Amino acid sequence: MFKPLGTPARDISHIANFTFIICAAIFVIVASLLTYTLIRFRCRPSDTEEEPPQIYGSNQIETAWTVIPILIVFVLLGVTARIVAEVQEKPAPKTALKATVIGHQWWWEFNYPGLGITTANELNIPAVDRARSNPTFLDLESADVAHSFWIPQLAGKTDVIPSRRNEMWLDPSTPGTYVGNCAEYCGTQHANMMLRVIVLSKDDFSKWVSAQQQPAAAEPQAEEARDAFLSLSCVNCHTVRGTSAKGNSGPDLTHLMSRQTIASGILPNSRQELREWIKDPQQLKPGNLMPNMQLTDKQVDQVVSYLLTLK
Ligand code: CUA
Repeated sequence: MFKPLGTPARDISHIANFTFIICAAIFVIVASLLTYTLIRFRCRPSDTEEEPPQIYGSNQIETAWTVIPILIVFVLLGVTARIVAEVQEKPAPKTALKATVIGHQWWWEFNYPGLGITTANELNIPAVDRARSNPTFLDLESADVAHSFWIPQLAGKTDVIPSRRNEMWLDPSTPGTYVGNCAEYCGTQHANMMLRVIVLSKDDFSKWVSAQQQPAAAEPQAEEARDAFLSLSCVNCHTVRGTSAKGNSGPDLTHLMSRQTIASGILPNSRQELREWIKDPQQLKPGNLMPNMQLTDKQVDQVVSYLLTLK
């Protein structure tokens, strides 16, 4: 939040700093006056028992402490309303990349309707050019309960609500990986509903798109492992494009190995972790929708060796 690298995040950070400075100035003035009064007018041993003169009302002071706070509130309101409007009403340029974010308990699905790509937990987007003509516009939907999509360095959080479509946009200009997470309590594994936004240069993004558009790799030496995978009930929930696996309640696995992590960011995506995950997902992320399939060690090995070919 304190190192914003996208326009919406930067705008929000500006309001936060501006509000903080005004509030800090009010605090300093009030606290100084209070301290001064406490010391200057404290009870001294020489004071008589008599009450000091009692004064009632001062139109000037009352006017001042009514008008000044009203002005401050109007300034804060004006600045906030202007930035909210700038962030929320921004029209999508024709050249914007469009993607759909679908919150699931407890992972993120990312679709690129114009590109025919579906992936999970890692949103790849291009860095914006100098003219900022290619921001990414996101539609946010939920498959189950309320979630909230938040990448602190790039934009404020936007709630992901069932039966509703919210929108937000990102325009980072620096390639890199930006971490985020679900920011609305959505059940047991809410804290493990992490995500990454991977910002690529224009060329790298085009390469990524063409790689993702390919159907799954069919390596001849992995044929036996693939048949084993396709004969298991994995296919009821997962899609591997180019095969008979067409389930859609779990993450698309077509290019699984192009992702850095599995299980929504809780584990690095490597042979060892894949093995442990498939062996018993409930132990690593209790309550998640992938059941322990009670696979034999041999089946686990076959599934893992097939998944490793899905680059
Ligand atoms: Cu999804 Cu919290």
